[in-house]
Amino acid sequence: MTLVKNLRLEAREAPPSGIYPVIDYGRGKAGLIPLWAGEGHLVTPSFIRDAAVQGLTNGETFYTYQAGIPDLREALARYHTRNFDRTFSSDEFIVTAGGMHAIMLALQATAGKGDEVLYLSPAWPNLPAAAAVAGAIPVPVPLREGSNGWICDIDAIEAAVTPRTTALFLNTPSNPTGWVASHDDLRQILELARRHGLWIIADEIYSLFSFEGRRAPSFYDVMDAEDRVVFVNTFSKNWAMTGWRVGWLNVHPSLSKIFENLVQCSTSGVPQFLQRGAIAALDEGDGFLAEQISTAKTARDALCKILSWAEGIRFSVPQGAFYLFFSIDGLKDSKEAAFELVDKANVGVAPGSAFGRAGNGYLRICFLRDLKQVEEAANRVADWARAR
Ligand SMILES: Cc1ncc(COP(=O)(O)O)c(C=O)c1O
Repeated sequence: MTLVKNLRLEAREAPPSGIYPVIDYGRGKAGLIPLWAGEGHLVTPSFIRDAAVQGLTNGETFYTYQAGIPDLREALARYHTRNFDRTFSSDEFIVTAGGMHAIMLALQATAGKGDEVLYLSPAWPNLPAAAAVAGAIPVPVPLREGSNGWICDIDAIEAAVTPRTTALFLNTPSNPTGWVASHDDLRQILELARRHGLWIIADEIYSLFSFEGRRAPSFYDVMDAEDRVVFVNTFSKNWAMTGWRVGWLNVHPSLSKIFENLVQCSTSGVPQFLQRGAIAALDEGDGFLAEQISTAKTARDALCKILSWAEGIRFSVPQGAFYLFFSIDGLKDSKEAAFELVDKANVGVAPGSAFGRAGNGYLRICFLRDLKQVEEAANRVADWARAR
């Protein structure tokens, strides 16, 4: 006890994950369909794994470039140029140990002790947790659920800005709600950030998981090069690489040296052989990614169809990412409901309360899965809701 008390308050009080207790409870249960975590069921494709194995075989076991190997930074520039309608150069990219590490570095650069970081809630919980561990104050601004989906209230963001606000974290398409910011939302948020001198930490990791059009609207579409926007991203979702822990930052080239140094002061770089796999993902992975998106869309449609008939279940059809965030009439304790779904329906979901206070009363299902499994899970959830 005494030892714990002597640790930094921010470390002691870091909120534990609200999803893991449910995963730990249901892990290994026979016949359980696990839709609780933010990942699909596929192993990383072999062309990506083989490239990493080749790097290891070639003896790529030494310290390497802090900003990422030049070949990978160039592949990142090609990928962005292909998908985001302008020309990118390799010196804008810094390779990180996953999306989470990119977020930590973006926070380290923009929000220190006592600074306030705004974010839209319900939200992926690691963001406010990481801000708080860094000593900053995460300030949730609620997304509202209207009859036509989730709505971002720009006036509410404006009202939450104080003289201590230094950064605004925006995740679109959103985990867990599936909300996708429109170009108009992004323009207004950018204008607000400019007016108040805020940094935007843009988390557009699900950008290509967009169910309308080629990709979701992006800050890239509305910003000028000199705007204070730091993009955080990851290989985890697009190419089934959650366990690799490789991600990236995209920043104005004048900031690259600073972020490179933050890598030096944290992980001291990403293993070179893993970066070989990441290059293969970017250069040869468009086909795999298109299949992932198509799997997600088919599963989303099936899940929404089944649950739209279910008693007491309500949701906004997700426009992006691969999660369904649904509420159940009269549900008070979403954590209890997630445990009950393990016991009674043999389905693993994430409790909405794990995504902030605004998420209580909701449950989250990840639908980047085999269609049959998603349909079976949806039917089990619907039966459970009927029997409640
Ligand atoms: C919105 C969002 N941002 C960032 C991440 C982090 O990704 P990574 O697994 O690469 O750390 C996740 C992961 O679930 C996420 O949902």
